[in-house]
Amino acid sequence: MKKSLCVLAILLVTFHLGNSQSSLVTKKGTDKKWWKEAIVYQIYPRSFKDSDGDGVGDLKGIISQLDYIKSLGVNAVWLNPIYSSPNDDNGYDVSDYRNIMKDFGTMEDFDLLLKGLHQRGIKLVMDFVLNHSSDEHEWFKQSKSSRTSPYRNYYHWWDAERVKPNYRYSLFDVNHDAWKYDSSSNAFYLHYFSKKQPDLNWENPTLRKEIYSMMKFWAEKGIDGYRLDAFQFAAKDTSFPAFPKGFEKNFVQYYAMGPHIHDYLKEMNQEVFSKYDVMTVAEGAGNNFQDAHDLVDADRKELNMAYAFDAIDLAKMEGYDFIKFKESFTKWDSVFAKKGWLSIFLASHDQARIVNRFGNASPEFRELSSKMLSTFLLTMRGTPYIYNGDELAMTNAGFQKISDYRDMSTLNEYQYQLNHGGDINQFMKRIQFECRDNSRTPFQWDASNNAGFSTGNSWIQVNPNYQMINRAEQEKDQQSVLNYFRKITALRHKNPALIYGKYSILDRSNPAIFAYTRELDDKKFLVLLNFSNKVAKSNINLDVSKAKILLANYPIPSKNGSLAPYESIVYQLK
Ligand code: GLC
Repeated sequence: MKKSLCVLAILLVTFHLGNSQSSLVTKKGTDKKWWKEAIVYQIYPRSFKDSDGDGVGDLKGIISQLDYIKSLGVNAVWLNPIYSSPNDDNGYDVSDYRNIMKDFGTMEDFDLLLKGLHQRGIKLVMDFVLNHSSDEHEWFKQSKSSRTSPYRNYYHWWDAERVKPNYRYSLFDVNHDAWKYDSSSNAFYLHYFSKKQPDLNWENPTLRKEIYSMMKFWAEKGIDGYRLDAFQFAAKDTSFPAFPKGFEKNFVQYYAMGPHIHDYLKEMNQEVFSKYDVMTVAEGAGNNFQDAHDLVDADRKELNMAYAFDAIDLAKMEGYDFIKFKESFTKWDSVFAKKGWLSIFLASHDQARIVNRFGNASPEFRELSSKMLSTFLLTMRGTPYIYNGDELAMTNAGFQKISDYRDMSTLNEYQYQLNHGGDINQFMKRIQFECRDNSRTPFQWDASNNAGFSTGNSWIQVNPNYQMINRAEQEKDQQSVLNYFRKITALRHKNPALIYGKYSILDRSNPAIFAYTRELDDKKFLVLLNFSNKVAKSNINLDVSKAKILLANYPIPSKNGSLAPYESIVYQLK
């Protein structure tokens, strides 16, 4: 049976590790920057807080929770797309880049939101969907209207009377075919994602100019950062050559980092980023460390950060290889130790919930394992990204019926499976674990109707466990996951060694424990994390008897190097 599209969505950004490029490491990487010190909180606006009872989260809803966001100790917010969109892919199909989606509010709401964040010392990173637009964008409407339209070259067209174009894989298409025939001008257009997300033609300098001007429009409004959605796929060989047999679906190797990608990024940097104090991060980091370095090497003047998916993609329904997980983070750290900067994350709106994937969502271990995972994310070198709801240890909804799912890529894949005789039971099991709708259910504010998210019918069902897992409940409890999260963000802010300090892994082959030190100047920290549901013993050769425990997730931390299930301890050694 084919993998679900949720998996394919992840594959889109997965990359296979190439050779270590440690020879690239030439310069000290501790130059201080605000974005290195940021703790980024990702808000999925559709599901965060609804202010007007239409069942869809909105900007006013976020504004109403600014003090909560501040209380988390985060100092940057990444908002998923909020631009006008027909919502085929929940805003990742933009029909007007300079306006706000009706469901979310108005430009006045946006201005207030930005002001409110800034008043609280929180930066705003916006999501820029530049590989494709919506088919309802004016550019596409014009483009498809005739072969001679001035907008024709804003997209990739292939006239139907020519020999059929070489196959291109589409991640979200119901047939996985990226060429869609359009009768208005008797031609095919390219869409790597859904048919309502036609790919923009970055070879066209007029399009690039329009995009830079739009990006500046937002910078002039005062935003502080850009997340570039799926941008590694923007550059294409427009002769569309055949890919080697068997590799037509190898989405990263053959579709990412095409010709001129670095030219476009350099141009974007010169035209936009260099003019403002903004942070920039790309989704996806290419095919190997060299690609990743090339994207974020400050001397090349492209981006600040990229995020790679090899560790995050290890999580499967059947479990994941913990040694590989540790090795992946360790390898990335070593390659970026002196030059470049990493993003640290284990969850987003494109993956199911972190506690289901990397922790343990059972009543016994949900809270402990979530605290342990937050400790991990906030004590690694690199800028941490925390997905909303994870600070409460929200869990997968695991919907049983296909009619409860909303994600277009999942629904299209379901259809594909039906059309191609796939094993639907197996498919349903898979999506219950890994579908991205699992992390898109409404934020659980309190035990009232709809978890306090909305007074109307929410666009996607609330996870039925909201009466037990919600913010209000956790505010009352000093030992809650939420209050632990606040402690760990405070610890990171207080200790530059946890941000910039050297990372060294210990007890590398331990099958249950992730142990490492972080060191800067005269400060040294030891982090011990048990990723398993059993007592585990570490073998670290460090005397912790006199060390100070700064934070632990059990009331009485274990001693002598043994750790209780999902236990985490942060020691200060000096
Ligand atoms: C990125 C987004 C994802 C979206 C896709 C197409 O992977 O994170 O949510 O569906 O791009 O824009």
